[in-house]
Amino acid sequence: MRLQNDLPQPTTIHWHGVRVLNAMDGVPGVTQDPIPPGGSFTYRFVPKDAGTFWFHPHVRSAEQVERGLYGVLIVDDAETLPYSRDEVWVLDDWRLGSDGQVDPRFVTRHDLAHDGRWGQMVTVNGDAAQQLVVRPGERIRLRLVNTSNGRVYRPDFGSLEPRVIAVDGMYTARPLPIDGFELAPGNRLDLDIAIPADGAGRSYAIIDRFTRRPFTLATIRADGEPVSTPTFEAPSNPNVPGWDGAIERPVDVTYVLNAQRGGEHGIQWTINERPWGEHEVTELEGGRWVRVRFQNDSARLHPMHIHGQFFKVIARNGQPVDAPYFRDTVLLRGRETIDVGMVPIDWGRWMMHCHILEHAESGMMTEVEVAPPRDPETP
Ligand code: C2O
Ligand code: CU
Repeated sequence: MRLQNDLPQPTTIHWHGVRVLNAMDGVPGVTQDPIPPGGSFTYRFVPKDAGTFWFHPHVRSAEQVERGLYGVLIVDDAETLPYSRDEVWVLDDWRLGSDGQVDPRFVTRHDLAHDGRWGQMVTVNGDAAQQLVVRPGERIRLRLVNTSNGRVYRPDFGSLEPRVIAVDGMYTARPLPIDGFELAPGNRLDLDIAIPADGAGRSYAIIDRFTRRPFTLATIRADGEPVSTPTFEAPSNPNVPGWDGAIERPVDVTYVLNAQRGGEHGIQWTINERPWGEHEVTELEGGRWVRVRFQNDSARLHPMHIHGQFFKVIARNGQPVDAPYFRDTVLLRGRETIDVGMVPIDWGRWMMHCHILEHAESGMMTEVEVAPPRDPETP
């Protein structure tokens, strides 16, 4: 893929969740130089995993992503699954000025003191009244992608009762009920939804319930003659490890999340009391299991994302969690501590940051260096 930068600003592309060679990861000053206006860069990689991914700039992302500069990347399964329909819903919100245009004040003090930039208009695929029309009886795969700078969604599908088959692009160990799943910035969820065969003429409102003010995200309308529902086993990953004893293992790395005064925006978000630029690089050995702790000492939300790696939540506030799936971004609520386990298997220098883009831009970012295993026997 060749990126030709016709923007008035430098940019790059980061392939969120795609396990690429480190040099293709699109991080300015770490894996490549920023691509100047008029410049170009060729990204080359062979995707290792099928699934739902997205890509976005890693330069001034709080502005570039907010303005809509991103895309969805779907890596097809080796064999096509017999869903009657495969749809993508991109969830985004927009803070508009009184002129109806994107408000050009980015990374404001208000956004930094809160959970980043939340817009007053929410769209699905750019449409504030998105309606997906299907035939009764269809079985659809619906891929949700949250590209918002700060907003979190908790979609309620009501009587449609979707099953979650993938989180952050990776198949779950088994299909899971959607209850309790949220999409923080960066997150993806793939859903398996069977539309009732007797549903002709019905509209199903999908309600967001993350905030105290629920609203309709989109609707699914069943229309026309019923079709027969494809019957097949939903895709899954039987190799998601249990890691039962993980809770007994010591914490290898702790990241304390907090804010301090200072920096060009007046507020800096920090990891272990250091903003980006003053950060320490965490060194991890490839192929070795580690327990990483995120400790949120602030009252705000922080969806923490690690480039090039997938991890599994093993504890929340010290209580063991059995998450039968991997993720690349995990949401921490105020004062919450989340422990994850992971086996880094892709070498290189990877970013670890909050995916609330204003928090990241004001310092909440660090680096993880994954060294190839010392023991050449380890894969
Ligand atoms: Cu979507 Cu640095 O990430
Ligand atoms: Cu944050």
